[in-house]
Amino acid sequence: MYTDLNTILDDAAKNHYAVIACSPINLEIGRAIITAATEADAPIILLLGQNMMKQHAKAELIIPMVKIMAEASPVPIATCLDHGSSYERVTYAFRNGFSSIMFDGSVRPYEENVQMTTQVVQLCHTHGLGVEGELGHVGQAAQGDGRDASLYTDPKQAKDFVDRTGVDCLAIAVGTAHGEYPKGFVPHINFDRIREIKGITNGMPLALHGGSGSGDENIIKAVEAGINKVNVVTDVFNEARDYLAKTLATNPRTPYLELIMGMEQAAKHLVSHWIGLTNSAGQASHFARLNMMDKLAVMETTGKSE
Ligand code: 13P
Repeated sequence: MYTDLNTILDDAAKNHYAVIACSPINLEIGRAIITAATEADAPIILLLGQNMMKQHAKAELIIPMVKIMAEASPVPIATCLDHGSSYERVTYAFRNGFSSIMFDGSVRPYEENVQMTTQVVQLCHTHGLGVEGELGHVGQAAQGDGRDASLYTDPKQAKDFVDRTGVDCLAIAVGTAHGEYPKGFVPHINFDRIREIKGITNGMPLALHGGSGSGDENIIKAVEAGINKVNVVTDVFNEARDYLAKTLATNPRTPYLELIMGMEQAAKHLVSHWIGLTNSAGQASHFARLNMMDKLAVMETTGKSE
């Protein structure tokens, strides 16, 4: 079922689990993510970054496709613009049917981040879309970001940010970074910082970006500390790429259809593994109950079933 970010993350925050968020860059990866979630009975979030859409995966094509797949699945599935950094990109996502928006003003001065995020929240809330903001800065693993504690989210500022902007979810910087870490490097995540931010923001849904390569133990502990959304993109793409490289090394004349179907299976297995780390397997059953309660409420007010 196609739904919005808030419905999914409110349940995750209430029941202390995290939802995996991956990028449906094409048909195969999109279906791999949705099939993994459906098989695990887990809610899932589909992310498209603005650069990804500019380079390859136009929202006009991808969003209608994933919506069709989402509607055919019983698990709750939301779409989210990832790292929208301008009003122009937010409205592009908005016009193209995303069900939520991440606005990233984290490289801007604090007051500017507050002001721009607030405007995005006001626009999106009028139309029923949830908004994720970012405070502190989750940078790039290749540039050594994640190790610089001065970029971590400050808990008191997080409270001020959440109160003033009205965001529905907050992406925090606590030690991870986007992309591939140097070989053998495993990030140190500041779990106390997660707990502190969770407490001071009264249980606000929190997002961990840069999930790839963070280590299973770290992800499990981050979820226990209060993370409710884990973005993992690079690892999923790499899994599909590695399958391709391995298969072609064995047989360079493997038929194309076989290759893309194999990549889909490889990506699906990886997403299933991540779902297992975040305690989201089986949680979609809450939403089935919610739907049933909505239907009962309609019957009570109208006196008839649909
Ligand atoms: P990774 O590619 O490091 O998993 O990060 C994904 C992400 O956080 C997207 O916003």
